[in-house]
Amino acid sequence: MNEKKLSSKPENTYQDIISKDITGAPKFLEPAANVTTGVEGIDADRYWTQEFYDLENEFLWSRVWQMACQIVDIPNEGDCFHYEIADKSFIIVNTANGIKAYYNACLHRGRKLITGHCRKSEFECPFHAITWSLDGKIVRNPIAWDMPQWNEENSRLPSVKVSIWAGFIFINMDDNAPDFHSLAHPMIKDLEPFDWDNRYREFWFEKHVKANWKTLAEPFMESHHSQTTHPQLVPAIGDINSQYDFPNAYISRQISAGATASPAMEPQPSEKEKLELMKKRGDARVEGVALEELPDEFRARTFLGKHARKRLNETTGKDYSEAKDSELLDYILYGIFPHMTFWAGYGPKLVYRWRPEPGNPEGSIMDIIMMSPIPLGKEKPEPARKVILGYNDKVSSCEQGPSSLKIVLDQDFGNIPHIQTGMKSLKSGKINFSEYTESRIRYMHQFIDQFIETGRAKKSIPNAELEH
Ligand code: FES
Ligand SMILES: [Fe+2]
Repeated sequence: MNEKKLSSKPENTYQDIISKDITGAPKFLEPAANVTTGVEGIDADRYWTQEFYDLENEFLWSRVWQMACQIVDIPNEGDCFHYEIADKSFIIVNTANGIKAYYNACLHRGRKLITGHCRKSEFECPFHAITWSLDGKIVRNPIAWDMPQWNEENSRLPSVKVSIWAGFIFINMDDNAPDFHSLAHPMIKDLEPFDWDNRYREFWFEKHVKANWKTLAEPFMESHHSQTTHPQLVPAIGDINSQYDFPNAYISRQISAGATASPAMEPQPSEKEKLELMKKRGDARVEGVALEELPDEFRARTFLGKHARKRLNETTGKDYSEAKDSELLDYILYGIFPHMTFWAGYGPKLVYRWRPEPGNPEGSIMDIIMMSPIPLGKEKPEPARKVILGYNDKVSSCEQGPSSLKIVLDQDFGNIPHIQTGMKSLKSGKINFSEYTESRIRYMHQFIDQFIETGRAKKSIPNAELEH
């Protein structure tokens, strides 16, 4: 992949918008590299064939860092989290010797050692009772007399690599994988000011969608669909002005200005109308704003920035006087290839994760997790349990979460199954991504191909450096 300067729609970039913020703009929002991904169509059948699902299983998922769970899911010694992705299943366990992760399969005949969240002092297989310690060492084997092929070494439960950042537990099946922290460094560094170590899980939706995992992820990687899928957002998102870039080969960003009307909106709303329209749709950022007291002359971003600073100070007791308007108002999304997104900025921020369902190229799961600052004067609240939503369940049916977000998610989830079925009728068999706004998506496909190619050739995974 070659680095190249691609431009967003030229007349008014995201940089133009934040350069007018009276607070100035933070350095980390300066454009990173773009990559040339071309304009060629990509084969649509990679969204549904068993063959491509198997290729991803063999060469992609087995060689990337993936977010399995959070430390709060396994706070005590012996707590186990059952993480599944495509056909693979893992045990993430808290032990006296740290967090460990194992393939969730008995070494005898493969029975799953756990089938859900549990607490264990050892792993006893329910089939023939061979038992391993939490450190993966065999401790009991009723049929040892009949298993001469096993010794102490080859009867250990194989582990997978574990890495931890901000309380999230990441795993990687590739024993030679580069360290997660070095690979995700550009994101970790940029998220540092936003105190990810002191947040709590306010809500967690696990939404199942009748579509391939890529069909599910892609609407969350571009802003071209805002005007049609989420028309209510358009008065307060600079969709066409968005910035898309690549801090390294594994990290990509989508950054859109908030409290800024879409350039496509005709006529353009006044600054006051922007706030009125945000209020009308229940946008949390205008909560508590007395619209009738607004001055005659003001800029919505400046006004809402001040409001956000004050509100966050009241709820957390922390000082936000140095926070820039962009850090309070904008949609700043960091994607970690291939299946995670973390939002940057102050205040409650979202985390996304996409996964293929077991054995199903046309079923996938999206986790939507809200990580919020700890309220003033309170102990860290208990982490929210996940709410599981099936193919036909609406996010709006949940009590948790702001309604404006739930409406947006339902709009996307309403669209996605029809993308999955519709693409099968493409006469050309090709999907056509736009050059700039959808560059992160095309790049994801190209990077998946690189994983498949290097995997087949038994080479190591692609480098994190972008090629110049
Ligand atoms: S399959 Fe686990 S003990 Fe036999
Ligand atoms: Fe969307």
